[in-house]
Amino acid sequence: MALNKLVAGNWKMHGLSADLAEIKAIADASRQYPSVDVALCVPAILIERASRAVPGFAIGGQDVHEAEKGAHTGCTSAEMLLDAGASLTIVGHSERRDAQRESDAEVKAKAAAGLLRGLAVILCVGESLDVREAGDAIATVTAQLDGSLPDDVGAATLAIAYEPIWAIGTGKVPTTDEIAEMHAAIRAKLGERHGKAGAIRILYGGSVKASNAQEIFGVPDVDGALVGGASLKATDFMPIVAAAAATG
Ligand code: 13P
Repeated sequence: MALNKLVAGNWKMHGLSADLAEIKAIADASRQYPSVDVALCVPAILIERASRAVPGFAIGGQDVHEAEKGAHTGCTSAEMLLDAGASLTIVGHSERRDAQRESDAEVKAKAAAGLLRGLAVILCVGESLDVREAGDAIATVTAQLDGSLPDDVGAATLAIAYEPIWAIGTGKVPTTDEIAEMHAAIRAKLGERHGKAGAIRILYGGSVKASNAQEIFGVPDVDGALVGGASLKATDFMPIVAAAAATG
């Protein structure tokens, strides 16, 4: 059976109390699309208010610490995310790999901790423009995935988000052939590491908008999207969800 497409918004460092109305608008409108799994990953401090505002709608974090608890100033554990009402989290976003210098090994530990404690996890990978132009995108991303992927995913809910760094917030998008080639390589790596690769959704992320969503969702092995800027407003985000529903 085909998996539902997953369309997740990554709000990054956006979102105040006043934006709860937008979250509610997205959650309400998403009910029209039962064949699509829709989620919003919001700043940690907004998770509890967002979860209370939209019961039953998937609210997620944007990062999780690998430890259960302890002396980790400023960090958030999986238990804290769950306690606040989150059901999922992003790990390994390129903005964290870059600004927080997160290594593949750290991302792997974070993904494993999230899955173990019952969060669904969206694990991000993606290459820089230099790597793409040097012709090393596939080798780099599959190596990054190999280093970041937990050893035991069991029955847990894991998705991989392929986000080319040069496509994030730039309006640039790889060709559909480039997306298809990368997603197939990711699928092959998942198969090599885990028998049930078919159950792991592979999302595309980077400048997804209403205008390109349908084309992207039509690419083989694209099981959804991780959306940044266009997830902040229901009017921008819902056409992307509708496109996911239309491409089944
Ligand atoms: P944009 O959709 O704004 O390009 O961001 C993509 C992204 O980084 C989602 O995690």
